[in-house]
Amino acid sequence: MQKQVSFIEVIKQHIEEGDVVLPVFNSAAMKVQQELVKKEPDMRVLENAITTDQSLSSLVLQMANSSFYRGLVEVLTVKAAIVRLGMREVGRISLLVASKNQFRSGDKRLNWIMRKLWQHSVGCALGAKWLTKRCKLDELESHAFFAGLLHDVGKLLVLMVVEQMRKKDPKLPVTDALLLEAMASLHAQQGYSLMKLWNMPEPYCIVARDHHKDDYDNTNDMLILVRIANMMCNKVGIGLRKDATLMVSALEETHHFNLTEIDLAEMEIVLEDTTILTR
Ligand SMILES: [Fe+2]
Ligand SMILES: [Fe+2]
Repeated sequence: MQKQVSFIEVIKQHIEEGDVVLPVFNSAAMKVQQELVKKEPDMRVLENAITTDQSLSSLVLQMANSSFYRGLVEVLTVKAAIVRLGMREVGRISLLVASKNQFRSGDKRLNWIMRKLWQHSVGCALGAKWLTKRCKLDELESHAFFAGLLHDVGKLLVLMVVEQMRKKDPKLPVTDALLLEAMASLHAQQGYSLMKLWNMPEPYCIVARDHHKDDYDNTNDMLILVRIANMMCNKVGIGLRKDATLMVSALEETHHFNLTEIDLAEMEIVLEDTTILTR
């Protein structure tokens, strides 16, 4: 027990003392998100934001041509992808692939965990987006997607810190149990601080901070959407956890939106489909 507490404290110290390289948020993706939340996004601004980042645009095309989205004809330009899939869909794809780029590690074990975390983030983003439609909260669609995508960014931060600690000290004993413990205990607060550092709008930072909190703000619809999406991902097993016994229908959050068992069963199918995208 003592060992676990000290490991967590060491990680915290590293972050607080500025002793680590922090993850950065892709600036092109930030521009895309700022455009997506507008009532009438400007297609040229969106296209420019994506195409000025070459690696981002090639990843966008890769995903737009994946089995999840593929049409009869391969799209070869971002513009063509926008014409076929729509501006908002291409915007979301670019956010997904930008976040995928962050979840990588040279350490095989950490890389596997990061991959699972990315799958979880995508599940939560698409799950929260799906819920906005079901709950008739269309105005929150792009916000909930983004908040879902970033809600666990604190876990990524913890893993990156551990990676850097291990580079300095390859013999550092890090078990999976220790990693899970450290992520669970640090990610909400550290994720909040990281997002503030990225100058993210406060509502997204709050989702990162409060998505596990017992006394959360039960008037914050976006937070509640992400909390439900998060629980559903854990129930279905998208990410590091799978707990099929989770009674999501009994949660206060699902009652808040009057979601039925049928809604949740439908959501499970939608979430399972998202795994095609993140294979
Ligand atoms: Fe979390
Ligand atoms: Fe989560």
